[in-house]
Amino acid sequence: MYQNEFYATNLYTKRVEVSNLKVGDVLTHDVYLRNGVLVAKAGMELTAKQVEKLKHLETKIVTLDLQNLYLKGISASKAIMETAAEGKPIKKESVTKLVTPFIDEVKREKNITKLLTILQSKDEYTYQHTVHIGLLSMTIGRWLGLEGNELHNLMLAGTLHDIGKSLIPLDILNKPGPLSGTEFAIMKQHPILGYEILNKSEDYEESIKLGVLQHHERVDGKGYPNGLVGNEIHLFARIIAIADVYHALTSDRVYKKRLNSYTALEYIYRNKDAFDSEIVMLFIEKMLTCLQSCSLILSNGMLGDVVLINNEYIASPLIKIKGKKEFIDLKVRRDVSICDIIY
Ligand SMILES: [Fe+2]
Repeated sequence: MYQNEFYATNLYTKRVEVSNLKVGDVLTHDVYLRNGVLVAKAGMELTAKQVEKLKHLETKIVTLDLQNLYLKGISASKAIMETAAEGKPIKKESVTKLVTPFIDEVKREKNITKLLTILQSKDEYTYQHTVHIGLLSMTIGRWLGLEGNELHNLMLAGTLHDIGKSLIPLDILNKPGPLSGTEFAIMKQHPILGYEILNKSEDYEESIKLGVLQHHERVDGKGYPNGLVGNEIHLFARIIAIADVYHALTSDRVYKKRLNSYTALEYIYRNKDAFDSEIVMLFIEKMLTCLQSCSLILSNGMLGDVVLINNEYIASPLIKIKGKKEFIDLKVRRDVSICDIIY
């Protein structure tokens, strides 16, 4: 048996070069000068002065504690949802404040799959989902070549995509199981409710509002609320739809266990007709590239690395077993499966 806790704990730390430190970063350990003077204390947010001092240290690598970033994101996201639930307008400024540290982290952390795993290692699904979709949408936007204000607006749309859920009754929102027909009809109102919440403020560009309104539309016309098809759906919504499904599949819920990233990507590939196929293919290719640097824990207890993937069978790659000359083709060995991914 592998030690899940060990990997989960390590996910929250990250080694960075001192030249990449930012104000607000939190270290996992105290840092002293040679003469014993303390420069920075573990667990405290770094000030501009400390960052400057640390950049001139002999030690070039320090370890960051990312829990802080996560917890801040959760509480800011909670506050925004609560404001919306009270019927008050949400200031664009407060959403920007929520997403900025994550945008910085995306720039520093090249492997988006690791950053996403950090976010989904805890509960509070609704709040982490918010931050997660903002991040993933922005990452897909970057892969598509979006930049500047457009990319920023996409991040905001992704972060706010489910804001309408703040007006859905909690017994429906948190129901630990499938919804009844009536409950689902109420739940399906959330994109419209989200659009209306954003309309209360003049801060939001139409692209952000359409991203929120249309994120459950599907290019094959089977989505809601308006059954739009293809490019009738705004680009932001077509991106958010993919991010949303990927996150839902890879998250633990009360009523279902999460899928590993490979199985989730295969699911999206098999359902690609519902999504923008160009974005789906780019998404799968880039996510698989990110996953290349990860190792796998198999159900037979062995550790391995993916050496070959076929798009039709993403969840069943060819795996080289660590420290051995042995290969396992999961397409053939149906008795073995992927248990977990080590980032
Ligand atoms: Fe939604």
